Order: sequence, then structure tokens, then C-alpha cells
Amino acid sequence: MNSKFNRFELIKSAIDSLDRSYAPYSHFNVAAAVLASSGKIYTGVNVENASYPAGICAERNAIFHAVACGEKGITAIAIIGGLNGQITDYCPPCGVCRQVMREFCDPEHMTVIIAKSTDEYKEMTLAELLPESFGPDSIV
Ligand code: THU
Repeated sequence: MNSKFNRFELIKSAIDSLDRSYAPYSHFNVAAAVLASSGKIYTGVNVENASYPAGICAERNAIFHAVACGEKGITAIAIIGGLNGQITDYCPPCGVCRQVMREFCDPEHMTVIIAKSTDEYKEMTLAELLPESFGPDSIV
């Protein structure tokens, strides 16, 4: 677990991004904020498409945003989401997003935060969310 970082700042970054979510089909708005190894925060939102499978989750958008900006690793992610932008429950990351996180982190030290607000959240490691995972080291 990456314990030395500002949870409030990471969750707040996700919350502040939520109104940029583009979800005209599901109306389920999601936002994520990734803490990169450099210490910088990168945000992402879900972006849907009229051709449904072409849409992408908030978590992957945030991670790809970080990688596109030159980051090589991530150490934490905060996720919030809910129907019509109302955060009434936790929004755990989907399986595909867990696998994408796996590519850019050490699962034992990657903190995943699912939040309802800056002071109501749960956190776990990626290793807990994706045990016995397949990663870059699996194919060498
Ligand atoms: N969604 C995410 O952005 N992240 C997740 O981990 C789960 C689902 C999005 C995809 C789609 O735009 C909407 O939520 C409903 O599934």
C-alpha cells in the first residue's frame, strides 16, 4: 500500500472532474484521479459513444492521460461515480480497468480508493482487487 499521499487532494481531484463525464447513454457519470510516480495527479472521466463499445471508463482515461504525459508508473487512484452524477454509493473499478492498472504499478503498493466524498471512502491494494494477476513480468 502506498500510504504517504494526500487522500483528500486525490479524491477532490476526481470529484472536481465529474461534471466533465460524457455519459449520455447510461447517465452513469464516473471520474478518476491517478497519482503518478512523479507525484503529479492526472484525471479522467468516462466518455461514451453512440457506438456503445467505443466508450471508455474514467479509470482508463485517467491512466492513459498520465502515460500520454510521460508517466511510467502509478501509485494510487481515486474513483467516484453514480447515476446522473449523484454519488450515493461506491463505484468499484471494472475488471478491464483493474487489468490496465496492473500494467503500470506494483500491485502490492498500488492504492485503490473508492469514494463517496473526501471523508467517506474505502481503500485497498490492487493486489487485493486483482489477485494472481497477469502482468508485464508474466510474459518475459
Ligand atoms: N464505468 C466507468 O467509467 N468505470 C468503471 O469502472 C465502471 C463503469 C462507466 C462506463 C460507462 O460509461 C458507465 O460507467 C456505465 O457502465
